[in-house]
Amino acid sequence: MPQIALAPMEGVVDYPLRTLLTRLGGIDSCVTEFVRVTNLTLPRKVFTRLCPELLAIKDISRTPSGTPVAVQLLGGNPEWIARNGRKVAQLGAAAVDINFGCPAKTVNRHDGGACLLQTPERVYNIIKATRDLVPADTPVSAKIRLGYSDRKPYLEIAQAAAEAGANRLTVHARSKADGYRPPAYWDCVGHINSLLNIPVVVNGDIWSVADYQRARAESGCTDVMIGRGLLSCPDLGLQIKASLAGQQYQPLTWLQVAALVREHYEVSKPLFPKKYLGNRLKQWLAHLKRHYPGAQLFFDKVKTLRTEAEIDACFHALLGPYLHEPYLPGPSTAARSD
Ligand SMILES: Cc1cc2nc3c(=O)[nH]c(=O)nc-3n(C[C@H](O)[C@H](O)[C@H](O)COP(=O)(O)O)c2cc1C
Repeated sequence: MPQIALAPMEGVVDYPLRTLLTRLGGIDSCVTEFVRVTNLTLPRKVFTRLCPELLAIKDISRTPSGTPVAVQLLGGNPEWIARNGRKVAQLGAAAVDINFGCPAKTVNRHDGGACLLQTPERVYNIIKATRDLVPADTPVSAKIRLGYSDRKPYLEIAQAAAEAGANRLTVHARSKADGYRPPAYWDCVGHINSLLNIPVVVNGDIWSVADYQRARAESGCTDVMIGRGLLSCPDLGLQIKASLAGQQYQPLTWLQVAALVREHYEVSKPLFPKKYLGNRLKQWLAHLKRHYPGAQLFFDKVKTLRTEAEIDACFHALLGPYLHEPYLPGPSTAARSD
């Protein structure tokens, strides 16, 4: 069965959001926000803070609904990435993923993320050292872009990752210089996929079932990774799975999604200092408004609010009698109107 991974998104796809989205369904795996590695083995608490799924281990790190969670590392030093990879594997990480795609200036200035794509041998050295040190039963994967200043070196980079022993390669189908500007170059991922003998996962600009079909057709990849598409349309994975199975599916209404948003807000509240109250809520709404006009209206209402009482009142006005009703997926609740 083709797999759908929830993309890592620093500052957005955190434990509460992974919990909620994987409970909803249609997602086969997730990746944590990146853990920055310098020249030390990080203490356990750094990993469990970004990946609380490591605390409730039965076999490997999984969200409460059972979806495996890989831990992502970021940095340029092979030895220390490898040592931290081994440590987090010993803590039970479902997989160790290495970030070669982050375009942030501060990250690149500190020798991590997309800047490493400029030297494929460094990509090779980091993955090789990590694969050598991490126990064989823990997969080591890498997430790359197509290049740094342009897309020319994508094959060289991908081959370096595969030759170093990566068990899986996710390709965000743009260069660092492309930023997040459309289009995503799924055909380049197709070229990579046709030459590598490891699973290649296509990523970038999958916003709908139709995009999913095109991305798979153009890349030839079986598996995809989706970030912003799942934030703006939380049941996109369910929509895709239903279309693959030839089943009818009733997409969530805005009110159903709003109930999820409120749950996320409640769970996140105690995790952040009061002065940041509502930040994660506003961030998620900023994605949701792409798909739901109701999210735009709600975002406009809450965007300047700071206090708990004001935000709670907005949710009350929006959700009314459904305020404390747990979200139930499926057609029985799909009848509510927007
Ligand atoms: C706010 C934000 C944070 C991100 N953080 C990470 C990260 O921590 N690690 C990573 O590998 N990619 C990160 N990405 C890139 C995404 O994982 C993904 O590759 C990119 O958004 C393209 O996929 P999409 O079009 O499905 O969103 C981030 C992207 C965004 C927009």
